Amino acid sequence: MLKLAVCVSGGGTNLQAIIDAIDNGAVSNAKIEVVISNNPNAYALERAAKHGIPAVCVSPKEFESRERFNQAFMEKLDAYGVDLVVLAGFLVVVPEQIIEKYRSRIINIHPSLIPSFCGKGYYGLKVHEGVLARGVKVTGATVHFVDEGTDTGPIILQKAVEVLEGDTPEILQKRVMEQAEWIILPQAIHLIANGKVSVEDGQVRIRA
Ligand code: GRF
Repeated sequence: MLKLAVCVSGGGTNLQAIIDAIDNGAVSNAKIEVVISNNPNAYALERAAKHGIPAVCVSPKEFESRERFNQAFMEKLDAYGVDLVVLAGFLVVVPEQIIEKYRSRIINIHPSLIPSFCGKGYYGLKVHEGVLARGVKVTGATVHFVDEGTDTGPIILQKAVEVLEGDTPEILQKRVMEQAEWIILPQAIHLIANGKVSVEDGQVRIRA
């Protein structure tokens, strides 16, 4: 059974997709041990609590330094003995010591087709604003392993979504969530939980 920690900062619709996929069997051999947020007001924490999943807040504001926050965050993760850390709309930079300790065991969902519209400054609606400003006809979402960079780790799954005439950033964000994020994030967890994913020379291989 793959033990998961899901890290969130906002509404938690990706967390909900994981919860629902585990409940309906689309994701097997995995269990959410804890949901951790940096934001005490994140509705994602309520989603977890409603489902009887331990929901904790580790807020940088509670600590006198970033180093102390980083330490507390790592201690929280370690306390639950998780196998995989899932960043689902988590807006905090993951400290290097956690990247190191959980090498190839942290995944992230990004709302574009990496390497487009990603990296510093590209998060949330800003991603979709960039997509619309550039006039691309196809966007989508990416699940990738997390390394020391921003959105630079090995790509696990991607799913394309059409950009339509008249799209606003909000409309496009919702379509990318519904048609891509909420599908490929649970799918990636299912594949990892069932031993189908490996990384060789920085490239992800998925076994049938
Ligand atoms: C999603 O758009 C995700 O791609 C991005 O942050 C947003 C989180 O949404 N990383 P939610 O909290 O899962 O609803």
